[in-house]
Amino acid sequence: MNSDMKKFKTFDSFSFSSNLLNNINSKWLMITAGNLDLYNMMTASWGMFGILWNKPVAEIFVRNTRYTHNFMEKNDYFSVSFFDEDYRNILDLVGSKSGRDFDKMAIKNLTALSYENKTVYFEEANEVLICKKLLAYPLHKDLLPEQINKNFYNTFNEEHHTAFYGEIIQYLKKV
Ligand SMILES: Cc1cc2nc3c(=O)[nH]c(=O)nc-3n(C[C@H](O)[C@H](O)[C@H](O)COP(=O)(O)O)c2cc1C
Repeated sequence: MNSDMKKFKTFDSFSFSSNLLNNINSKWLMITAGNLDLYNMMTASWGMFGILWNKPVAEIFVRNTRYTHNFMEKNDYFSVSFFDEDYRNILDLVGSKSGRDFDKMAIKNLTALSYENKTVYFEEANEVLICKKLLAYPLHKDLLPEQINKNFYNTFNEEHHTAFYGEIIQYLKKV
């Protein structure tokens, strides 16, 4: 681990906000699930954050064909991380290759940390949300507006997404 690296501090989950829509859209997210022995992560640029059942909640969308989907199904926790621009190439990598084809755990410059043996996050992230899975909701084609089906699912007969809702149980931020 780089000793110059800033340390994470914990913050109240309800305080998470920082320029949210811009961050999701342009900086993207990294979604990680599993444990230190076996985890996988992928890049996402869709995500929703808000309040549900009085809890601070993250909602992310993972296509059923992603290797990460298996990890999301099998594990009770996942993490959502935001990185600096310096890590764009890593986000590109984990967002273009599947963990089925190469070992994402071996990526240099990413230091995996365990959050209380519940899930994995990375020392190099700036902000991390540790999420406890609340619901996995398959967005089947018959639920979606025609135009959305046409634009996002019909062209290559793609698989649908599952919306995973997680209670944000910890908000970590570098200060
Ligand atoms: C900018 C960007 C945004 C992405 N957003 C999503 C997303 O929201 N949901 C999704 O299922 N895949 C998304 N992907 C694609 C996955 O990250 C990609 O297919 C990845 O290789 C899956 O890896 P895995 O098979 O190891 O899970 C995105 C990719 C990029 C580059």
